[in-house]
Amino acid sequence: MSRNNGLDRRAFLKNAGMTALVGVVSGSPPAVTTAAGSVLGPPVGKYDFDTVYNRVGTHCVKWDQQIRTYGKDNIAVGMGIADMDFKAAPAITKALLERIQHENWGYLDLPGSYAESILNWNKRRYRVEINPDLMMHSTGVHPALISALRAFSPPGSKVLVQSPTYNAFYTDITLVGCKAEENPLKLVGGRYSMDFEDLERRISHDTNTLILCNPQNPTGNCWSRDDLATLGEICLRRRVVVLADEIHCDFVNKAHTYTPFSTLDNEEVVRNSITFKAASKSFNLAATKVAYMFSTNADYMARVKATGHRQELNTLGVVASQAAYNEGEEWLDQVVAYIEGNHDFVEKFVSANMPLAKVTKPQGTYLAWLDVTSLADKIDAQRLAADANKSRSPQTAAVTPETMVERFFVKHAKVQMNQGASYGYGGAGHMRMNIATSRKLVETALTNMANACKNV
Ligand SMILES: Cc1ncc(COP(=O)(O)O)c(C=O)c1O
Repeated sequence: MSRNNGLDRRAFLKNAGMTALVGVVSGSPPAVTTAAGSVLGPPVGKYDFDTVYNRVGTHCVKWDQQIRTYGKDNIAVGMGIADMDFKAAPAITKALLERIQHENWGYLDLPGSYAESILNWNKRRYRVEINPDLMMHSTGVHPALISALRAFSPPGSKVLVQSPTYNAFYTDITLVGCKAEENPLKLVGGRYSMDFEDLERRISHDTNTLILCNPQNPTGNCWSRDDLATLGEICLRRRVVVLADEIHCDFVNKAHTYTPFSTLDNEEVVRNSITFKAASKSFNLAATKVAYMFSTNADYMARVKATGHRQELNTLGVVASQAAYNEGEEWLDQVVAYIEGNHDFVEKFVSANMPLAKVTKPQGTYLAWLDVTSLADKIDAQRLAADANKSRSPQTAAVTPETMVERFFVKHAKVQMNQGASYGYGGAGHMRMNIATSRKLVETALTNMANACKNV
């Protein structure tokens, strides 16, 4: 990295005093003994996900933004925003290096080979047949969703979401002047399911769209064919367009399946939907800003286009996504298996060492959804939040009990996670922990957190 571009990581680390990623919190010896060696199985496959890959100093949200917010001595492990800490698939880096050799960045004439890579990937991996005439590009799932909301949901109308759900959906809905109508998931014994009766009740004359999250961020549900069919039929009958965000679809644990909404048997149900996808979650290309949406409904796509949705893409993003879809499958399969190992590790560790927290291994995603209700009670998070709100300026977001739990873990464990209340109704009492990182860091984080909990 050049010194001129502000990304000189060695200098940054020296200045920040971070010669190595901070380990177990100093001053509180690890009462929980899980020597790093014990959590690492023998290397499996071609790619190394075990070696800690230090991202500090690259202006990344997951680490640098947290260090900026909380101070360099307070972040041992960033486990917030949903991206991965691993080195990219070698095929991606190779393709980018080759393109960079040609030092010109003028306007891109989007190559047909890029669209082909999307069509082939979806057909090969998921038997999804995308009609290229009914596919549109986007600089992210968000801009695509925003265009679709503008097409179908006039300002003031309601957009259904199934909470707890991806927090930024709420931002998109607000941005287009709509209101989120929450259809809470039912939680029984640590497992979430859809509540169709509640869904029916919430649909009124001014409900035009539903944002489906499949697999669900943050709960990790991979919705079944029956769930999706029932949801789709209700939405068709009640004239609610389904906006199916399937960006997490490649992260599915072994015993589970991702069912693309577009493969449902009822063609009319499928015609009542638009699917949103990207290689960015699967291959960690979030900052390259490339995504796509597709439908079998020409009228729907025309309506989205008519909002003025722009389809220009970033050259490097196109190169990276194309390489990922054409040559990255083996890497992806290994990273997914590695992350499943992390999920198993988290589940075992929490049940053995953290009586104040609970976690159920999710069906998919690289997110662990921790139930921290007991911890929140123990630290009196409700009262702490109420006190903090008394002195809060009206410009800043309300402090929730989960904000207090987030701060507790930063202060006492040097671990940053996302607070559950931001994921809407049902998120209270939870923290979202991103475990797409080396197992050693997962272990460091959990060890620190277990020690922090012991000391309350
Ligand atoms: C469900 C979901 N949709 C969309 C996004 C963001 O998509 P993009 O970066 O392509 O806008 C995320 C990122 O975490 C997500 O979890």
